[in-house]
Amino acid sequence: MSTKMVALSFTLFACACSNGPSAVGDGASGSGPLARGGSAGISQVGGAASGSAAGGASSSLGGASVAGAGGPGGTASGAGTSAGGAGSAGGASNAGSTGVAGGTSGTSGTGGGSVIDATCGGTNGTATNLKDKYAGCFPIGAAVDSQSYMTHGPILKAHFNSVVAENDMKFNALEPNEGSFTYTNADKIVDFASSNSMKVRGHTLVWHSQNPSWLFTGATKDTLIARMKNHIKNVVQHYKGKVYAWDVVNEAIMEDGSYRSGSGDEDKKSHWYEIIGPSYIAEAFRAAHEADPNAKLFYNDFYDYIPAKQQGIYTMLKGLLADGVPVHGVGMQCHLNIEPSTKTDNQGYYQSVENLEKAIVLYSSLGLEVQVTELDLSLYIPGVSYTKDTFYTAATFTDALELKQANRYQAFFELFRRHRNVITGVTFWGIADDNTWLSEFDSGRKDFPLLFDNNHQPKKAFDAVMNF
Ligand code: XIL
Repeated sequence: MSTKMVALSFTLFACACSNGPSAVGDGASGSGPLARGGSAGISQVGGAASGSAAGGASSSLGGASVAGAGGPGGTASGAGTSAGGAGSAGGASNAGSTGVAGGTSGTSGTGGGSVIDATCGGTNGTATNLKDKYAGCFPIGAAVDSQSYMTHGPILKAHFNSVVAENDMKFNALEPNEGSFTYTNADKIVDFASSNSMKVRGHTLVWHSQNPSWLFTGATKDTLIARMKNHIKNVVQHYKGKVYAWDVVNEAIMEDGSYRSGSGDEDKKSHWYEIIGPSYIAEAFRAAHEADPNAKLFYNDFYDYIPAKQQGIYTMLKGLLADGVPVHGVGMQCHLNIEPSTKTDNQGYYQSVENLEKAIVLYSSLGLEVQVTELDLSLYIPGVSYTKDTFYTAATFTDALELKQANRYQAFFELFRRHRNVITGVTFWGIADDNTWLSEFDSGRKDFPLLFDNNHQPKKAFDAVMNF
């Protein structure tokens, strides 16, 4: 596809990122893949404690087309001088805030020895793979499982310099029975990463989903805190020096900005909050810091583009920092969709580049670094009903749709680049379309959300993030 077309078109829409997995969650009959976290999937995830599955046959939301002209704030593709960050080494500093306005975010400094093309936002214009292209910006990561690092080994090694375990470091995977830790699968991933000079993110220590059933059984506040601390201590110490960053707490804030509480649907409620109260969050960060003082500790969540939610996350983080809790960064999952929803009551309605940019600016104003932790871009529009007849297949994933997906990927990458002084990592939630959680629906709904296709070949979306 022509790079020009992509470049042109990305200024045409208002973007959005949307919703997560879920598309789910919202739909009438829910579709969410996996129910965030649920046991829905295929996957090796063994039994998630909670989580329902809902397969996504018909959701409701409706949106038709998007609208939005006027591109993301400012076209500017990073005027900044060279890259920020320390190249693939990964860590940019915790620097302070970025300006919102487009194009001013570049810091100086050279990016880790790679060729920096200042007119291209700190990227390497001659690179042929993702990690070299973005060496001056941030490491490029992928979520892997204990098979995919081998089955997808060639593209993983060629394009990525960071990995995260998609499921193998979750509570139910690492401590299926109290006090008995099973590191085998996660260790394989970490060993693979270290033999290939890749960084490793840890995901995730405390979450409402994918927990073993013993964890909350008969738990008082004190027992649950003790179980949590013991888990964090064992896991973080086991990976000390190998996992450089942890998602310590995942998804604690709701779309309206309130804490995820102990009420509501079983697959959405937090037994952590229900039994301990909001202090479980500070306790978790303190325990992780004690176990590995060098690890970067992240709060991770989805739908960061929703104004009320980003404000809720900001307020919580500000409070934690004021109390001296060791939080170093914010992970924005960024499960996006090909279009925002047109329904004002749908979370995907707010899924725009501008709204995501507000989250980056807000979080980094606290001195925190920001990472994109679970990036993918679904073909399904939040708010639209899909049935078996309208599920996408390889045949109906047309060139036009592929181009549209590419344009939207490019719009978000333009944003990430522009804020490269505070964005210290961009991780995709998978490697290629043949292995994505968005195709885990019981209904059989397939999705094609990544940069590489079912045959591990680069898609137009790959070209779009490489060629601008
Ligand atoms: C997902 C995995 O990709 C699936 O395989 C599993 O069935 C459910 O969990 N937000 C998160 C991730 O933080 O841990 C979730 O991963 C996707 C949504």
